[in-house]
Amino acid sequence: MTSLITMDDLSNDEIYEVLEAAEKLLPVARGEKYLPLLQGKILGNLFFEPSTRTRMSFETAMKRLGGDVVNLGSVASSSVVKGETLYDTIRMVDGYTDIIALRHPRQGAAQYAADSAEVPIANGGDGAGHHPTQTMLDLFTIKQAHGRLDQLNIVLAGDLRYGRTVHSLAHALHRFNCDLVFVSPKGLKMPADLVADLEAQGGRITETDDLFGSINNADVLYMTRIQKERFPDEEEYRKVSGSFKLQASDLNEAKENMIVMHPLPRVDEIAPDVDKTRHARYFEQAFNGVVTRMALLCKMLDVEIPGGEL
Ligand code: CP
Repeated sequence: MTSLITMDDLSNDEIYEVLEAAEKLLPVARGEKYLPLLQGKILGNLFFEPSTRTRMSFETAMKRLGGDVVNLGSVASSSVVKGETLYDTIRMVDGYTDIIALRHPRQGAAQYAADSAEVPIANGGDGAGHHPTQTMLDLFTIKQAHGRLDQLNIVLAGDLRYGRTVHSLAHALHRFNCDLVFVSPKGLKMPADLVADLEAQGGRITETDDLFGSINNADVLYMTRIQKERFPDEEEYRKVSGSFKLQASDLNEAKENMIVMHPLPRVDEIAPDVDKTRHARYFEQAFNGVVTRMALLCKMLDVEIPGGEL
């Protein structure tokens, strides 16, 4: 495998292979075992937009496997402020590292970087485009909870227009024959071309603005933040902010094994009282970012994980 830009870069078999590898690497991700498979390898973390989980879990994943990391750091303290282009930055970091994790505000930037670099690019989020490594940890979390990925009822709720996590996740879940329910306020619906694309491939999709009516049939309720930073102006954001606020009492009639997920950070869309319910899974989900990125780094760097028990 070279770069991971969208979920189209992974076949279903490869997805299962990565999830299996991630499962195996759990003791390493927890720090219970040391397995320096990536010793001598360097990851370049280039984050042109804020991040806590993606940046830190890539870094943790690399270090747990004995590798090293170089960071661009804040854009304000880099040569980007002197006018350096993304192309030049990528060409240079290409020579410093073995693999690059890139987050960029511009949709398509990750593909552009992959076309410019020799080393593999892991797309850590490109504008409102895609976030495939997030999808892999989401799939890992769903499989952990339900023992499978197929034939589940998945509710994706919130900002489906600008939320890149749900764009990548919808594409992936459709491939596993899940029923997808897209719940959003009117102005934040899933992009029409994405819906049309999935429907043309036989996807079973329902679109609604009724969050609470969608919960009881769900196996997974995937909440998302309204992406304030992508709105053209503050007024437009104010019209939809606070549209959905999930509370523990909203889950009273939910299926016993239904899980609530969220890529995080959350603002006000999940009340803190949900954290204590058996349904909350978002902090485990964030931890799963380490183990799935460990498995992805091995795959992208063509490093084999030993067979048998670690
Ligand atoms: N889920 C996610 O992408 O979080 P960060 O923005 O903190 O990386």
